[in-house]
Amino acid sequence: MHNRRAALAAIAGAASLALTVSACGQNMGGSSAGSSKGDTIGIAMPTQASERWLTDGKSVVKDLQAKGYKTKLVYGEDHPKTQVSQIESLIKQGVDALIIAAIDNKSLNGVLQQAADAHIPVISYDRLILGTKNVDYYVSFDNEQVGRFQALYIIDKLGLENGKGPFNIELFAGSGDDNNTKYFFDGAMHLLQPYLDSKQLVVRSGQTALDQVTTLRWDGPTAQKRMSGILDESYRSKKVDAVLSPYDGISIGILTALKSDGYGSDSKPLPVVTGQDAELASVKSIIAGEQSQTVYKDLRRLATVAADMADDVLNGKTPTVNNRRAYNNGVKAVPAYLLQPTSVDKTNYEYVLVAGGDYTAAELK
Ligand code: GAL
Repeated sequence: MHNRRAALAAIAGAASLALTVSACGQNMGGSSAGSSKGDTIGIAMPTQASERWLTDGKSVVKDLQAKGYKTKLVYGEDHPKTQVSQIESLIKQGVDALIIAAIDNKSLNGVLQQAADAHIPVISYDRLILGTKNVDYYVSFDNEQVGRFQALYIIDKLGLENGKGPFNIELFAGSGDDNNTKYFFDGAMHLLQPYLDSKQLVVRSGQTALDQVTTLRWDGPTAQKRMSGILDESYRSKKVDAVLSPYDGISIGILTALKSDGYGSDSKPLPVVTGQDAELASVKSIIAGEQSQTVYKDLRRLATVAADMADDVLNGKTPTVNNRRAYNNGVKAVPAYLLQPTSVDKTNYEYVLVAGGDYTAAELK
């Protein structure tokens, strides 16, 4: 609890200056501290507008409560400043640990200094927080693999390995202020670039650099607008064969633009459109033959790892990590636990999503 934490911090501070500052999360617990049961954990999530973050919030709360913790869950509704003040308020309320999925990965430095001053350990959830030493652990997925799955799907469906082409492709990326964006994009482009070089893939809009293809806050309507503009300018007499989309909400926006441009008929079939998160609307779209693919990430597992990390940290144990190097936040490599994503399309959604317990068959009707 708060007093226990303060007492521990005081002891740690007196005992060793070196141990306290950046490693406070790992050194405050310990058996002498007694149980962390009844401690409160603050959870700051980005937005309720996307289904996935609702699942994340619910799952983290459930796992922590099952371990005997109290929880305070807040959503910043995609406003970085709101998220900062929510975290400030959680610190003032005396939470014992923080689990944060950042909206803007660089906006949290000030507030995380306040967390460090109050000896509150911080777990960066799904999105790595950049530019601060005050983040103790990171839990996410192998984010480059997400991008590779999207690219591999396009390569396979277009038959690029068999030398087919040229095909027209357009590229979309996520929000520029989310650290995951470049991992998804780099993972995909690593595999697509050779086909751009050989001209089997052609980007008619000419927009291929990351800063030309980002989608602020992963917003579907923003992506829809960009896709419509590209269709108007570059595809009057041509058709687009594939669209690299990093996230289901963006894919739905892209598909809306395509359909209002007449795609989706026998003479003008929809292009291959990728995605991520296996959100309900996209899974239904995949079943209906519109969106082609998504990348499933088991958010219940993500939540469980985050809850276990918080529990370990508060009890003086070192959380299990499986990657200490890949995720450098500019100040330090944050010890990470990375889960594996799964590529999903019409052929395996029942096995992955229905048998796996994410959706019932009725929900997908
Ligand atoms: C990313 C996350 C994706 C997707 C996206 C939009 O950070 O890794 O799975 O949810 O945000 O919310």
